[in-house]
Amino acid sequence: MPFLQARDLSKTYRNAEVPVQVFENLNLEVERGEMLAVVGPSGIGKSTLLHLIGGLDRPDSGTIRVDDREVTTMSTDELARFRNRHVGFVFQFHHLLPEFTAAENVAMPGWIGRISREGALKKAAEMLAELGLEARGRHFPNQLSGGEQQRVAIARALLTDPKLFLADEPTGNLDLQASARVFDLMRECHSKRGLTSVIVTHNPDLASRCDRVFEMKKQR
Ligand SMILES: Nc1ncnc2c1ncn2[C@@H]1O[C@H](COP(=O)(O)OP(=O)(O)O)[C@@H](O)[C@H]1O
Ligand SMILES: [Mg+2]
Repeated sequence: MPFLQARDLSKTYRNAEVPVQVFENLNLEVERGEMLAVVGPSGIGKSTLLHLIGGLDRPDSGTIRVDDREVTTMSTDELARFRNRHVGFVFQFHHLLPEFTAAENVAMPGWIGRISREGALKKAAEMLAELGLEARGRHFPNQLSGGEQQRVAIARALLTDPKLFLADEPTGNLDLQASARVFDLMRECHSKRGLTSVIVTHNPDLASRCDRVFEMKKQR
């Protein structure tokens, strides 16, 4: 059975004056251990899809199963726990908290998940080392380069040892060299940790280095 299975997903945003239908009956399966690239033009619904898979938003209809968990029927509390324990999310903008050090930012999901302060900081130091940032734990986000900030965000996403890794244009703001480094590190974490990864990217070169490419197109 696939690790991730999205069936007949439909999503329309109704908060605006005119409803925005993003997609209808979208189907996606990702095998355990697979690294999938999601590509497609801006506005097609890549971020929306990732948000639904990661439990940040809910579809209007359809089902999402992650490793035998039915995400779509979870209560709000269950969803929060699911995200904290089982999903690592990285966005295009690092969203690090500026008043906390790199190590504290990485430890944050542990504190939320009720690991002790010391335990979470110890784990954070290990994660930073895994991302090649062992010397940067005491630095604040604005003392780091864009690539380093994204690596801290990846360390934070993986702190609770999730099995599902979701990244939304994680290299979208980086130059070529920093992009390549961030991608290499994601690949490394993916293999070493036995992750199942879904990565939205506009970079065809990086997409081609994933195991498979899922292209989102205009429906009809
Ligand atoms: N919170 C929202 N409210 C209303 N419309 C939204 C919202 N988020 C995204 N959209 C719209 O949904 C469509 C898909 O957006 P998105 O998933 O961000 O696309 P992509 O990531 O592929 O660029 C776009 O037309 C966008 O304007
Ligand atoms: Mg997007």
